[in-house]
Amino acid sequence: MKILVNCALPYANGSLHLGHVAGAYLNADIFVRFQRMNGNEVLFISGSDEYGTAITIAADRLKVSPGKIADKYHREHEESFRSLDIVFDLFSRTTYQEHENTVKEFFLDFYHKGLLVERSMVSPFCRKCDRFMPDRYIEGICPNCGFEEARGDQCDNCGRTLDPQELKSPRCIICGETPEFRETKHMFFQLERFQDQLLQWIGTKSFWRHNVLSFTRNFIKSGLKERPITRDIEWGVPVPLQGYEHKRIYVWFEALIGYVSAARIYSEKMGEENYWKEFYKNPDVKVYHFMGKDNITFHTIIWPAMLMARGDYNLPYMVTANEYLTYKGKQFSKSRGIGFSVDEIIKVVPKDYVRYYTASILPEGADTDFTLEELQSKVNTELIDKFGNYVHRLVSFITNNKLQISSQGVISDDRDLEAMSFAEDKIRAFSGYVNQTEIKKAMGEWLELVKYANGYFNQSEPWRLIKSDRNKCISKLYHSLVLAQYICGISYPVIPSTSKKVLEIIGSSKFRETGFTDNLFVKENSEFSPVKTDPPFQKLDLLEKNPNCLDLRIGQIKEVNNHSNADKLYVLKVDLGYREAQIVAGLRNYYTPDELVGMKIVVVDNLKWAKLRGEESQGMLLAADDGETVSVLTPADSAASTGGQVRIGNLGYNSSGKIDMEQILKMKLQVEENDGIPAATAEIDGLRVPLTVAGSKVVSQKNVKIPASVR
Ligand code: MF3
Ligand code: ZN
Repeated sequence: MKILVNCALPYANGSLHLGHVAGAYLNADIFVRFQRMNGNEVLFISGSDEYGTAITIAADRLKVSPGKIADKYHREHEESFRSLDIVFDLFSRTTYQEHENTVKEFFLDFYHKGLLVERSMVSPFCRKCDRFMPDRYIEGICPNCGFEEARGDQCDNCGRTLDPQELKSPRCIICGETPEFRETKHMFFQLERFQDQLLQWIGTKSFWRHNVLSFTRNFIKSGLKERPITRDIEWGVPVPLQGYEHKRIYVWFEALIGYVSAARIYSEKMGEENYWKEFYKNPDVKVYHFMGKDNITFHTIIWPAMLMARGDYNLPYMVTANEYLTYKGKQFSKSRGIGFSVDEIIKVVPKDYVRYYTASILPEGADTDFTLEELQSKVNTELIDKFGNYVHRLVSFITNNKLQISSQGVISDDRDLEAMSFAEDKIRAFSGYVNQTEIKKAMGEWLELVKYANGYFNQSEPWRLIKSDRNKCISKLYHSLVLAQYICGISYPVIPSTSKKVLEIIGSSKFRETGFTDNLFVKENSEFSPVKTDPPFQKLDLLEKNPNCLDLRIGQIKEVNNHSNADKLYVLKVDLGYREAQIVAGLRNYYTPDELVGMKIVVVDNLKWAKLRGEESQGMLLAADDGETVSVLTPADSAASTGGQVRIGNLGYNSSGKIDMEQILKMKLQVEENDGIPAATAEIDGLRVPLTVAGSKVVSQKNVKIPASVR
């Protein structure tokens, strides 16, 4: 069977984090590996979504061109996916020429069919910037909840979608000016014409997840309206119409077509120009879409309507949307410093451990919290204690006793037959769940089988049988090896390189001959020649290796006095919540006492106390110094509570006691660009990571030239 798997194209505007991975990519990769293992021909597609305001806003912030940003993150995304063994046939780009051609083809087809209608609409125009501003460039007060930083397209506080005209006190995010609303012409896609056809189609999707179905039904029932698909913006696919030279095609309209253009580009690359048609035009092919829940409408309404409009394209068969992965209860976000990027986690946790833990907690039914503690304990107690040790004990027993295991002469008693049929049931259940894209549930079946195998091996007591009944002992070991082979088979989609290693350790003949194919699930003719090795995988001890020796706390300055004996120094009284500290700081040339009082700062609270020119300093405050300006570091979130712990990356203080200046220097603190904003960072295991307090970053109180050193 042929299967097309499309993963939402991530915006090329920031690093991929585990929230992305758990939202759409790991589960899709597992699904794809599993289908291929079962002999299906899969085309697996994703790519970078490079246009639109998500990119221009990131570019504006860093004062570089949007193309540069998109290019940087496209490369980074490719690398991040590779580092986790998430392997697409093509990870495309929406800036490819072939994509532009495909988009224009769709656009003109709709235009000629009368599905695009020109209308005047009113858009925010900033007189100071002298241009129409995209909705996201306008901020103001949410009419629904009163949130002060609501965006023109959506309020991040209450989640309501907005029109910039609804905002109270709107302002341009570039210059702060109040926008005016001017008429402008745009092309509108006649979505409402597909209302009945869509409802009918959704009626055939009772096997979709509840969240996707109910969301979609409600959206359609509330009435579909025509949607503008052009924008007054310069970064995007040009509109192939006269009079639209300064407008671009709306990013969502164009990115969705990225699924088709990517398949075409792949076909060209493999030298079979029509290969993509086998997936889009042959009605027997099933098309799967994976995405996060914020993408549902686009994939269950807009994209199907566009495909219906084309007339001869396959519609999605399955649309799967995951909920969010959270970190300490908040949605993963690199710009807000919450959670781990792929780069960060892969430096400290082997890829298959990341895959295993993430797969076993995928947010398939509800938002799910990711913790390092749970990662470590699940990896150590399930993957290693149950699976790794099972294989190790089994193989060690066989090799230590120099046993030859062969299927010849194996006798199966009732217990063995029961074990085999239990395993087959679990494999069926695992497969059923994967086919429904319920990977987390499949992982539950995997774990049950692994536990069962341990029980079977223990009850067999081969160490006793070897003395009393050698043939029976060999039969039991044979069945134990078959169980290990089965487990590896269903492990492969989740932890591919580990499964391969284990199949080599048990010396599976089927694996040697055919690799990962469904014959791993057939017991007949399996032969094994186990090889003794060290335990196949190493336990994680993330928490013991915590290299963060700095006890960093948020303090608030209560009092500022001149040092009586040094004209560059102040003597500060700082409230740390749990105590008040006297701190001597060389800030007199840079701040007046009035500026400092009340300010929140970052204090190293485990520095050995020292007398500076006669005054005791009970800690040190952190300040950035670019050679000219000296600025204290301060929490970006001014509500950060006094005494609050500042983490380095995701590491809290490792409780190693009092330190001296030298150890502070070893952490290589500095202020530099971090995910688009200048922020305080430190070096952990050769990697630069941000300082955060309760999930938000630590920044320099004044502008400094970056990178600036911190002292
Ligand atoms: N870039 C979008 C996001 O990250 C997803 C686009 S999916 C597409 O939310 F296929 F339309 F590109
Ligand atoms: Zn402006």
